[in-house]
Amino acid sequence: MKKIIALAGSNSKHSINKILATYTANLIEGAKVEVLDLNDYELPMYSIDYEMEYGVHDIAEKMLSTIQSADALVVSLAEYNGSYTSAFKNAFDWMSRANKEVWGNIPMLLMATSPGGRGGATVLSAAKTTFPHLGGNIVADFSLPSFGNNFVAGALVNEELKTELDNAVNKLTVAMN
Ligand SMILES: Cc1cc2nc3c(=O)[nH]c(=O)nc-3n(C[C@H](O)[C@H](O)[C@H](O)COP(=O)(O)O)c2cc1C
Repeated sequence: MKKIIALAGSNSKHSINKILATYTANLIEGAKVEVLDLNDYELPMYSIDYEMEYGVHDIAEKMLSTIQSADALVVSLAEYNGSYTSAFKNAFDWMSRANKEVWGNIPMLLMATSPGGRGGATVLSAAKTTFPHLGGNIVADFSLPSFGNNFVAGALVNEELKTELDNAVNKLTVAMN
């Protein structure tokens, strides 16, 4: 059975991106979903001095090998001040020191959501530019604006957006099989 890893770029216990990534990964039929929580991979703040003294942190190696064990990735990024959250960026920087091909060319559905009307469009755009240089194989992307209005009682209730998401999920399914 294919394995899908759902990852949110947030360390919030109540992360809306974690909710969206988990929901979306579970739309794919006949696959096993594993949710990778950043809180299970707590790392010190990346510093070149730390790396020189102690090498790449074991937790970064562990997180990288978990990611690279997937057949497909569903990643949803939280946006802080127009960019990645510190927690995600830190883990990402650490992993890139273990292996520049962080995402291992594994098919990825890249998403972002926020409570506001732009749906994390800025961080999504940054990641679309950067991830391909780090082994990212983005086969579809999706931004969900106004999470609180569009995602109700555990489901995406806006029909137009649901159709868009279903199309993105289909692209990921084709790419991973
Ligand atoms: C420090 C900080 C900065 C934020 N900056 C933005 C922003 O630039 N754009 C945005 O849409 N939301 C912003 N937000 C709101 C987040 O989108 C919101 O907290 C969201 O729930 C984060 O995703 P998460 O629940 O998956 O952690 C910010 C929140 C915080 C705490």
